[in-house]
Amino acid sequence: MLKANMRKFAVCFLASAALGSGTLSYADSGEKILADRCVECHELTSPGPASLADLWAQKGPNFSYAGNKYKQEWIEDWLLKPTRIRPAGMFYGNHIKPGEAEDVIDASTLATHPSLQPDEAKAVASALMSYKAKSELLKPGAYKPGKISLSSGEMLFIKFRGCSSCHLIEPGYGGVSGPEVYTAAKRLQEDYMVSFMQDPQAWSPFSFMPKRHLKDKDLQKFVHYFRALAEEDFQ
Ligand code: HEC
Ligand code: HEC
Repeated sequence: MLKANMRKFAVCFLASAALGSGTLSYADSGEKILADRCVECHELTSPGPASLADLWAQKGPNFSYAGNKYKQEWIEDWLLKPTRIRPAGMFYGNHIKPGEAEDVIDASTLATHPSLQPDEAKAVASALMSYKAKSELLKPGAYKPGKISLSSGEMLFIKFRGCSSCHLIEPGYGGVSGPEVYTAAKRLQEDYMVSFMQDPQAWSPFSFMPKRHLKDKDLQKFVHYFRALAEEDFQ
């Protein structure tokens, strides 16, 4: 009898210690990781660079609008085992050296991204979803799901619009100054992609991505294309 009571006491004690004032709630623990280990490279509050020099000095993507941009499940997965998304890192101009025919990436200057434990990644991904700067630029439902063949998508992306001069459409094929687009639909919310391509500088001031005044029909086709690319297995 005494033993059973002792056990009950021990269980209650442990439970209250875990919930006690020293323990952070789930969302708070994500915020704490961001503040302690991420703000050195990722901006959480300022909505973007104030000058070209600021853009050049950015050490990582701006997260003030992370909740309007990324897919939460993707952030969680990626943080367990980060892979490179911008082949020439950030900022790409700092990681390029002159080659024989053209500039080449100086891989020795590219750092490996820190990875997180599963519980940390989950807490951070959830915390990042609350960063919603620039919501006014998004039209929920702007993207209307549809299909395009890879060859028609490629034609539009490479031939008609010249987008592949800055973006990889598969590993090793395309330009290296922008993020790879073959994983874009895994990473990014569809409505964000529509809005970003329509006016890149509204989201990312001084961005090198040209504003092409694309028609809605083409914006939709590009997202169809990125979704088709995301289903290919390039690994
Ligand atoms: C030393 C600088 C640095 C630190 C510290 C850092 N990051 Fe990053 N982060 C980067 C860079 C650079 C990229 C772009 C990687 C690429 O394009 O391959 C990136 C990309 C990301 C991405 C993918 C989003 C995207 O669009 O590329 C996520 C998510 C991310 N970081 C989260 C975090 C979290 C969470 C922390 C803290 C635990 C953190 N980062 C700490 C530099 C950093
Ligand atoms: C001169 C180089 C350049 C060209 C040409 C270009 N882009 Fe970009 N693009 C970029 C850069 C740099 C970014 C990253 C901008 C940022 O996050 O600030 C980007 C970002 C993007 C993104 C968001 C990807 C992400 O991971 O954040 C999409 C989608 C995109 N571009 C599509 C296109 C399409 C479609 C075209 C052709 C109409 C195009 N781009 C032409 C440089 C370019």
